[in-house]
Amino acid sequence: MPQPATSERAIILAPLGRDSQIALMLLKEAGFDGVISADLIGLCTELEQGAGLLLISSEALLGTDLQPLLVLIEQQPAWSDLPIVLLTHHGGPEQNPASRFGPLLGNVTFLERPFHPETLVSLVTTALRGRRRQYEARDRLVDLSQSELRLQNTLETLEQQVEERTAQLRQNEEVLRQSQKMEAVGQLTGGIAHDFNNMLTGIIGSLELLRRRLSRGRTEDLDSLIDLGVTSANRAAGLTHRLLAFSRRQSLDSKPVEMNTLVVSMGELLQRSINESIRLDMQLCEQLWVAEADPNQLESALLNLVINARDAMPDGGRLVVQTSNQRLNADFTEAHSNLEPGDYVVLSVTDNGCGMPQSIINRVFDPFFTTKPIGQGTGLGLSMIYGFSKQSRGHVAIQSKEGEGTTVNLFLPRFGGEPLQESPVDSQHPLFAQNGETVLIVEDDPAVRVLVSTVLSELGYAFVEAGDADGAMPILDSGQRIDLMISDVGLPGMNGRQLAEIGRQYRPELKVLFITGYAEHAAVRGGFLDPGMQMITKPFTFDLLTAKVREMISA
Ligand SMILES: Nc1ncnc2c1ncn2[C@@H]1O[C@H](COP(=O)(O)OP(=O)(O)OP(=O)(O)O)[C@@H](O)[C@H]1O
Ligand SMILES: [Mg+2]
Repeated sequence: MPQPATSERAIILAPLGRDSQIALMLLKEAGFDGVISADLIGLCTELEQGAGLLLISSEALLGTDLQPLLVLIEQQPAWSDLPIVLLTHHGGPEQNPASRFGPLLGNVTFLERPFHPETLVSLVTTALRGRRRQYEARDRLVDLSQSELRLQNTLETLEQQVEERTAQLRQNEEVLRQSQKMEAVGQLTGGIAHDFNNMLTGIIGSLELLRRRLSRGRTEDLDSLIDLGVTSANRAAGLTHRLLAFSRRQSLDSKPVEMNTLVVSMGELLQRSINESIRLDMQLCEQLWVAEADPNQLESALLNLVINARDAMPDGGRLVVQTSNQRLNADFTEAHSNLEPGDYVVLSVTDNGCGMPQSIINRVFDPFFTTKPIGQGTGLGLSMIYGFSKQSRGHVAIQSKEGEGTTVNLFLPRFGGEPLQESPVDSQHPLFAQNGETVLIVEDDPAVRVLVSTVLSELGYAFVEAGDADGAMPILDSGQRIDLMISDVGLPGMNGRQLAEIGRQYRPELKVLFITGYAEHAAVRGGFLDPGMQMITKPFTFDLLTAKVREMISA
């Protein structure tokens, strides 16, 4: 940056005679500073040190290489527009070639010779005033860029602070999530252990009593003990069923469902489940779309919701069961994982009971979360509905306000295809085996295998057993008569579905009944089963098993 001493001086280039000295003298008399250059190169060297203006006589520019000066003028910073006073001779542009320098040199004022000293002084004064303005602009620019720099620094510091803070928050959140997860898992395992112990006590206790009685030869009144054991076992079955529903690992039998028909058919059961102080109101949409869901699961979801509503209204109230059509757009579905935009059939259950605060709403879908006294709720109802809705490609939402009531909306996808005609189930078959019918049982759990084979042989069926697919394959590849293969789905090694595939290569007509306790690969039955294949879930009653066996063999 030019020094103050040089920033206001005039650099004079007027090589003829004493022109330079006279000009310098005039300027000094007027109180200006100046320096004389011998040639254009000298002027450029001085200019690089700084100048307020240039005072040049036009003949000094003729016949010389102007390039060094033009470069310096071209390279001026944005704020600078160096004033140049050019001394010319009298006459028009033809006689006065110097006039063409005007556009080249920029900020040029012409001063025709001979001039009056005062004219020169006044021109130089004006030029310097302009130059000072330029210096002010420069200083302001410097100030500006400094504050910009400071601002930039502040911004950078801020950004860094925000980043650090965000990282900290994220870490806290992660820690919180982890601890919430552990709490939920603890609640889950604790809940299972507690409930299962109760049920096992019922099962083991009744079996032990049975054994004692039998060892003493007392056979009267065994039925009540057996009932006790079966009831406990069924409760345990119900518990695992609901857990599977929550974990979305149950085997869903999704099919087109007329939700209104289903709701109406449950009317009496629902009415019986609530007390008289609660008014049940059905608001069924007349043009309801067909939904796609597992009807049994849907029934149990509805019953659960109605019982929840009843429990929320101990002093009576109004319970509304409503069906409706709803189209969910991407704005809504994107906020929920695994939900596609499209048409949904909605089942809503509304009560005007106690409602819930947000802290409870946040937890109602956690398995074993309940606010009910021990023995009155397992805390699996909503967990199961949640899992069922997700596994059915639907959604469940709760709205609740303390003291005002609750609405639960269960969204199930609209069925897209042609409604199927249900083939009526022919249950007229006698259960007993006819002329040597043979069943192949493939099951890795010995207890289940023994029970199934025992029950079938009691009905007169012949049977062959295998513990896994490797054991079953040679039997399928042999001349052995097989009317039906009963196979577990979750076998060690090759699974039941793959075994069935291979079995059908040996025997294209092979009928297969799958039994499964856990439907990792069979979440939706429709996509899993080919014609001539059926599935029942563990635990199953022997009545169901034998009826299925008979039905399939006779088909
Ligand atoms: N309609 C409702 N109004 C008020 N609170 C409700 C309602 N539905 C559920 N809740 C709250 O959510 C909790 C969990 O409900 P969920 O159905 O999962 O389990 P539960 O009813 O306690 O037990 P379970 O259904 O297994 O018998 C309930 O204990 C209750 O606190
Ligand atoms: Mg419940």
